[in-house]
Amino acid sequence: MEAEKVLKETVRSKKELKNEMRLEFDAVSENEAFARVAVAAFVTPLNPTMEEISDIKTAISEAVTNAIIHGYDTESGYVEGERKVYIHCLVLHDVLHVEVIDEGKGIENIEQAMEPLFTTKPEMDRSGMGFAFMEAFMDDLEVISEPGMGTTVLMKKKLGTSSWIQCEE
Ligand SMILES: Nc1ncnc2c1ncn2[C@@H]1O[C@H](COP(=O)(O)OP(=O)(O)OP(=O)(O)O)[C@@H](O)[C@H]1O
Ligand SMILES: [Mg+2]
Repeated sequence: MEAEKVLKETVRSKKELKNEMRLEFDAVSENEAFARVAVAAFVTPLNPTMEEISDIKTAISEAVTNAIIHGYDTESGYVEGERKVYIHCLVLHDVLHVEVIDEGKGIENIEQAMEPLFTTKPEMDRSGMGFAFMEAFMDDLEVISEPGMGTTVLMKKKLGTSSWIQCEE
């Protein structure tokens, strides 16, 4: 009985899927579409639903746009070509962990920034809904930031279907 349990555990742990991907690109708006498609393509083998793909794309778009227009905003004097956005994706079993990182100006008050409708750029027609969308479309959202130290947005999403994991054996 005990041996059977151990065997089952071993089989299960072998099925534990881990897959990792990193991207680094210039913080220009042209790359926002690239970033969301790249992350969507990365999770495709997990058989996500259309809705899951669409949720992930929206969240990535919002985070990358924020890095570009807020993290490296024009007044902050960042040198063009040195402004980079980093994306780190990790799939652990059926959960996508994705970090969107900039080395820009950072956020002074994270709690306030995450409030729906809060924006520091109303003049640019921003509606202050980016973080609210990320929160709504992903299962977990964490923002790590300090003024002058850049921003890391960590999001997690469980993907419903994972049939290819069973096929792996
Ligand atoms: N990467 C970042 N670096 C610095 N500040 C940020 C960053 N991301 C967000 N912020 C700050 O948090 C605020 C709220 O972000 P959020 O995405 O919710 O709204 P927004 O970008 O202002 O408007 P919207 O996303 O609706 O166009 C921003 O106005 C900005 O002050
Ligand atoms: Mg935004």
